Amino acid sequence: MDESKIINGKEISDIIKAEVKRETEELKAATGITPGLAFILIGDDPASEVYVRSKGKACDSLGFYSVTEKLQSNVSEIEVLDLIQRFNDDNNIHGILVQLPLPRHINEEKVIEAIDYRKDVDGFHPVNFGRLVIGSSSYIPCTPYGIVELLKRSKVNTNGANAVVIGRSNIVGKPIANLMLRKEINSTVSICHSATNDLRDFTLNADIIIVAMGKAEFIKSDMIKEGSVVIDVGINRVDDTSKQRGYRLTGDVDFNSCFEKVSKITPVPGGVGPMTIAMLMKNTLDSAKGKIYR
Ligand code: GUN
Repeated sequence: MDESKIINGKEISDIIKAEVKRETEELKAATGITPGLAFILIGDDPASEVYVRSKGKACDSLGFYSVTEKLQSNVSEIEVLDLIQRFNDDNNIHGILVQLPLPRHINEEKVIEAIDYRKDVDGFHPVNFGRLVIGSSSYIPCTPYGIVELLKRSKVNTNGANAVVIGRSNIVGKPIANLMLRKEINSTVSICHSATNDLRDFTLNADIIIVAMGKAEFIKSDMIKEGSVVIDVGINRVDDTSKQRGYRLTGDVDFNSCFEKVSKITPVPGGVGPMTIAMLMKNTLDSAKGKIYR
């Protein structure tokens, strides 16, 4: 297996976290400011608990201050909004992250818009999203930001490339499509989704495919072009009796069948996943530095 084809997200995220750690030490020494990140976790979704715990651990290892507020799934919307307001007003907090998804009785849009956009290190607030599209400075959502860093640091030629994004979510598809359009990336972008006719016509012409559709191993070798770069954002559980835990994690791409054809590909796990946390740390550091908004 030609290992050089694999974009190692674990390795690249470790480099970024080391950069953030060093800059955090410098910031503390120069100003006395410690980057602070507040997590709000509502309910008892096991996946969300795992994510928040690992984000908290990253804060500890990089020298950030962090606080996690865990709320019961029956908490009222008002209580959530009040807690957000408290963190908005707290000068020790530079980033606020409300872990999604939320219980159904809580309005996600309202919650996101209650976060001070200057502390919205997830980049989900309409102000940040709008500024991202315009190309002004803003917090960039962590997963798309991570994908851009993977492409840059793996020296993928994006200039004039046909980039095909599969998935139109606010967290991944829409922001990454807009980022790929930026002058410094300069790709031609198509956004495909579940209602796209003849998806293959797009994927077979793609120099870069970014897949965030949530369907295990959907993208097969006969759907991609020789030499393409494949970025797999999916994380799916599929039953696997050969594993002790009874399942394995796999992406939206059939890695083994596509590997021969691609010039570069991200594995799952160990590709895009680890980048998300690294970029969250980077956004929070930038907030503490007053780099995005003063
Ligand atoms: N749920 C899944 N991904 C994310 C993310 O990037 N941020 C938040 N807040 N919740 C999520």
